[in-house]
Amino acid sequence: MKFKSKILIIAGSDSSGGAGIQADIKTVTSLGGYAMTAITAITSQNTTGVKSVLPIHHKEIEKQILFSSKDIAPDAIKIGMLHSSKVIFSVIKAIKKIKTKKIILDPVMIAKGGAKLISKKAMQTLKDKLIQKTYLITPNIPEAEELTKIKIQNVEDMIHSAKRLLEMGAKNVLLKGGHQKSKYLKDVLLNKKDIKIFKNKKIITRNTHGTGCTLSSAITTFLSCGKPLIKSCELGIKYVNHAIGSSPGYGKGHGPINHINSIELNKKFK
Ligand SMILES: Nc1ncnc2c1ncn2[C@@H]1O[C@H](COP(=O)(O)OP(=O)(O)OP(=O)(O)O)[C@@H](O)[C@H]1O
Ligand SMILES: [Mg+2]
Repeated sequence: MKFKSKILIIAGSDSSGGAGIQADIKTVTSLGGYAMTAITAITSQNTTGVKSVLPIHHKEIEKQILFSSKDIAPDAIKIGMLHSSKVIFSVIKAIKKIKTKKIILDPVMIAKGGAKLISKKAMQTLKDKLIQKTYLITPNIPEAEELTKIKIQNVEDMIHSAKRLLEMGAKNVLLKGGHQKSKYLKDVLLNKKDIKIFKNKKIITRNTHGTGCTLSSAITTFLSCGKPLIKSCELGIKYVNHAIGSSPGYGKGHGPINHINSIELNKKFK
């Protein structure tokens, strides 16, 4: 088996292996991509919560990006949590030097429990400077609310908020519906031409650790090897759905999902 493409992941480490860089590498690898990394923070955590976060210096993040991609040129870049304005500016400076336009931003800002993960200043920088430089952003509902100041209670509100993100300079928005209380979850993909709603039955489980990181990495992998946007989102959402459905049940809290379910996906959707 050969690698289909090369992906650079810029994100934080999750010691429990279910989210962050670890989820990203597992996803990219199991979908046939070659993963490179620039680590933005080191967290000590498990399925029950986060114990500590050690941010990596912005210069060190920039070096990881530039030195690895100077040697092996990535076909696409996935960006996860960036904790400060300085880090965001360093990442912008570094990615300018890389040729690919396939840059996917998961604007991680708010933890599952509702806690804000990045500073107010960093949020503003992300809004004013980074969104415009990416191909796709994948906020969840609380993140879209924070970015647009639009309260989201239904799909119409999701569309309204996604439209506002387009006005702010985003090219494509996938607003994720994992936080909806309904029986069916709807993810909304929007750009200036199209609107597409992906609907899935909500799986009743507590094992949803890292669903967001996993989804953005899966979409990045599909885009990196030339699949169109709608197809990439559709396959990414299916991959996450199957991964939740077959989660191994590890840990005492919100357990990880099954990143190696791609074998089944390859058989079904290729
Ligand atoms: N219980 C569930 N059953 C089925 N699909 C789900 C469930 N929870 C989330 N998803 C799907 O997982 C994907 C990720 O969405 P979600 O809103 O959970 O991202 P997120 O909040 O960024 O995740 P994270 O907490 O990992 O950052 C979406 O496609 C969403 O529809
Ligand atoms: Mg998330």
